Amino acid sequence: MSATAGQGGSGAGAAAGAHRGMSEHGSAHGGKGTETAPYERVFKGERLARLEWLFTKYPTKQACLLPALWLVQEARGWISEPAIGEVAEVLDLTPAYVKGVVTFYTMYHTHPVGRHFIQVCTTSPCNICGAEDVMKALLRETGCGDLGATSPDGRFTVIEVECLGACGFATPILVDDDFIEGVTPEKVSGILQRYQ
Ligand code: FES
Repeated sequence: MSATAGQGGSGAGAAAGAHRGMSEHGSAHGGKGTETAPYERVFKGERLARLEWLFTKYPTKQACLLPALWLVQEARGWISEPAIGEVAEVLDLTPAYVKGVVTFYTMYHTHPVGRHFIQVCTTSPCNICGAEDVMKALLRETGCGDLGATSPDGRFTVIEVECLGACGFATPILVDDDFIEGVTPEKVSGILQRYQ
């Protein structure tokens, strides 16, 4: 079962994807889920100030977990084990608890992803309307090749997801925070050109 995590503090609903644009560490997140450089803390300077502002909006520090994780993903593009440890530390939680939350919600990345993260609904109602062909076109046109893989240029990662709540408008896709309905294989190339 998949789950989505709303972006606390922003008011965005569950259908709003994570911000997966340029991270502070550069453009391509093409690795395998391990940090190669020494870990640099996320919560310092302006980002620490944003976290402390969030503390004033929630009844407890622990209640800030979801938005704190969004801040990490915004900064790094994904949430590494050291980042989980840092979040646990700043919120007075255990790393195991934080990891349980990160791995429950599909919208948190536990490995590096492309600059643009594409989610395509392939659940039955969309599938019988051609979602499979849309997914294949996305994998081909992005150069990703396989679901979950990042394109060689670091631009895209494509995954399939369960119902996006637009069953009457097959095939819906999410590109970063952009919800696009009625996608066909023929439209894929034009859509991708908007995302560099
Ligand atoms: S089944 Fe695809 S949006 Fe609902």
